[in-house]
Amino acid sequence: MSYLRVIEPGEGYVKQEVPLSQAHRLLSARPTCLLTVRYKGRVNVMTIAWVCPISLEPPLVAMALHPAAYTHDMLKKSGEAVLNIPGRPLLEQTYQCGTLSGADEDKIALTKLSLEAGRRVEAPWIAECLAHLECGIVDILTPGDHSLFIAEVVGAWAEEEAFAEVWLAPQDNEELLPFYHLGGKQFGLLGRTLSAP
Ligand SMILES: Cc1cc2nc3c(=O)[nH]c(=O)nc-3n(C[C@H](O)[C@H](O)[C@H](O)COP(=O)(O)O)c2cc1C
Repeated sequence: MSYLRVIEPGEGYVKQEVPLSQAHRLLSARPTCLLTVRYKGRVNVMTIAWVCPISLEPPLVAMALHPAAYTHDMLKKSGEAVLNIPGRPLLEQTYQCGTLSGADEDKIALTKLSLEAGRRVEAPWIAECLAHLECGIVDILTPGDHSLFIAEVVGAWAEEEAFAEVWLAPQDNEELLPFYHLGGKQFGLLGRTLSAP
């Protein structure tokens, strides 16, 4: 018995080849995060979407940062950060934090975001965000043009109306929805949640 089903021309999807430079966008969307760092008393915030959980025990995440980001060396030297997850109202400030550099601007002052003391790390929270993952760097890999910071999550907090074991994504309140980076200036909101049968 053959399991091979021959697809006739014109049947099924029409698939265009995606340029390799855009292949990573097929793995979108990921929640857009604001990464806060503190080094020698200076606080900086950068937007980051290349973040992925990679271990449950210990709880580890991988974050890809370009070495040109001001945050990169602050993170390398301080060894700590907070991944803050903004909700829909913070889209504009989040985009600013992803297009301006802390080398030139005080992005906290510019965006008027509020800092709140971290609970287990020196890096601060962005108070207006929906959730916060406090991280300690355990390894740095350089497999390509971004550095992969492997971080242990040492504490996590989330707004209870937005998250209860999973993102709740209430459709009647966009304030409680994180936004997902599709690429460039494009973002998406979680439309609805589904339960597997
Ligand atoms: C939506 C969005 C997502 C981004 N994701 C990343 C990322 O995953 N890694 C990265 O190195 N830069 C990412 N960037 C770019 C940095 O945020 C940008 O280079 C920023 O200016 C760095 O700030 P800094 O120089 O203050 O560290 C992203 C930008 C945007 C707008």
